[in-house]
Amino acid sequence: MRTEAEYKALVENALEPQLRSLGRVPEKLMEAMLYSLLAGGKRLRPVLLLAACEMAGGTPEEALPFACALEMVHTYSLIHDDLPGMDNDDLRRGRPTSHKVFGEGLAILAGDGLLNAALELALKAALRMGDIRGIRAAELLARHAGVTGMIAGQTVDVTMEGSTPTEELVSYIHTHKTSDLLQAPMEMGLTLAGADPAPVELGRLYGEHLGIAFQIVDDLLDVTGDPALLGKRTGMDEQKLTWVALKGMDGARKDAEAHVDAALEAMKDLPWDTSFFENLARASLKRVY
Ligand code: IPE
Ligand code: IPE
Ligand code: MG
Ligand code: MG
Ligand code: MG
Repeated sequence: MRTEAEYKALVENALEPQLRSLGRVPEKLMEAMLYSLLAGGKRLRPVLLLAACEMAGGTPEEALPFACALEMVHTYSLIHDDLPGMDNDDLRRGRPTSHKVFGEGLAILAGDGLLNAALELALKAALRMGDIRGIRAAELLARHAGVTGMIAGQTVDVTMEGSTPTEELVSYIHTHKTSDLLQAPMEMGLTLAGADPAPVELGRLYGEHLGIAFQIVDDLLDVTGDPALLGKRTGMDEQKLTWVALKGMDGARKDAEAHVDAALEAMKDLPWDTSFFENLARASLKRVY
């Protein structure tokens, strides 16, 4: 296994060439897509995908188009999340949000463009591989990003704003808007490595719990975080159904720890060296950006 920084570098170097490989794109659209895609970001999701693939004996280089596709989907979700009709944010990844720079029309299209490019790249990679692993990985990406996944969570997030937080609602939002895109890389990476269904399911479970913990920490950072480190504004969640609104700061912290414990538990029965994933899950509780 390589280090987190090595997986991240693989992704950083591949994102723009992958997007450009699709052919001639209107200049303004390419500029807007690259503005958000190359603005930094932790690259957590593609790193998880490459690491899961390598842990199970696969080749990160073969999985790279899928990892880039997933980061494109994530970036599109952020561009749209920041739009005036959704969270109405003006800072993201340390820069003015897409609609502030390019206007709403182009920001919407840049999001659409990244989503479609992602599916095109994943399907092209699947065709090149020529076996069922790639098709499965592309289906996982579409499903976790889709109307039963991330989009489902975002829908409840934006339509239930201002209502009373219940465990059922907040848990649904966190499981889908965030956790789905963390389950995806685990399942995709392991599937691309040719792993059996049982370990793929354990990987999914790890991603599910890590994802919920990750969003709880995001909710905590909206209260306690430093915008300069986060690259986005804090204090934006007043009307939102967050874990902090549900349980308070201490309750939220405790639940985040419990979900990390559950993520670690899921790793225990895997036949590989899972320390990369254990370290990453523990570190997610202490993150400041
Ligand atoms: C932000 O995701 C949106 C959430 C799901 C909380 P990240 O915190 O992974 O954002 P980047 O990719 O590092 O910018
Ligand atoms: C966003 O959740 C989740 C997705 C973009 C799918 P948030 O709205 O809490 O993310 P931030 O705080 O704006 O990064
Ligand atoms: Mg949001
Ligand atoms: Mg937001
Ligand atoms: Mg947030």
